Amino acid sequence: MAYLLGNAYFYEYSFKIKPGVFIPRPETETIIDVACDLFKDKTKPLKILDICTGSGILAIVLAKIFTNSKIIAVDISEKAVNIARENISLHKLENRVNVLRTDIFPDKNENFDFIVSNPPYLTDVEMKNIPDEVKREPFQALYGGISGMDIIKRIIDITPRILKKDGFIIMEISPHQVSYFRNTDIYGLEFFGIFKDLYGFQRVVVLKSGANN
Ligand SMILES: C[S@@+](CC[C@H](N)C(=O)[O-])C[C@H]1O[C@@H](n2cnc3c(N)ncnc32)[C@H](O)[C@@H]1O
Repeated sequence: MAYLLGNAYFYEYSFKIKPGVFIPRPETETIIDVACDLFKDKTKPLKILDICTGSGILAIVLAKIFTNSKIIAVDISEKAVNIARENISLHKLENRVNVLRTDIFPDKNENFDFIVSNPPYLTDVEMKNIPDEVKREPFQALYGGISGMDIIKRIIDITPRILKKDGFIIMEISPHQVSYFRNTDIYGLEFFGIFKDLYGFQRVVVLKSGANN
């Protein structure tokens, strides 16, 4: 339906959507709620990174809430990047949200107060059982490798390098992936918590920058 209408709602805002771009889901709103809880001062000039931005929903809603923030939004898909740019100009945020087409994140010397991400995280088995309407969405937006962890692990690998001291990564995951994060010392990050989505599933993991950041 979202593809037919050419738009979808997220956090009560309207966004353009096209075939080839992931349709935003209500459970992803948990990322915004968690960010608001962690960063109480909404006027602080925060630097935020949105990895796997898709239509740009997380970057745009965060820019509206954190009124002095600067945000970089990245995605590997040309279609996603184009729609994200359209949504950024629709919401008149060109001066604070910048989109890059890139694989995860370039080897840039930048640091962020927090990172958000809703990466592809479905496993081989889950991909075989997805409903027909989800099959219309881009494979690259859904499939996370055999265990669903391929992109997640790559994001976690680079996070300690680009997160400021006392920074956080707030990431959507599948409830069955929770156990991977309980012992995040191995990634140079500290486990901070797991947060449930509106359906009651453990959906968002939060990791904090480690002692060496
Ligand atoms: C589940 S969608 C999430 C989109 C959006 N953040 C949302 O929540 O609606 C995952 C996105 O990750 C992007 N993606 C997949 N692999 C990537 C990679 N290696 N680097 C950057 N983006 C990637 C896909 O193109 C897709 O837009």
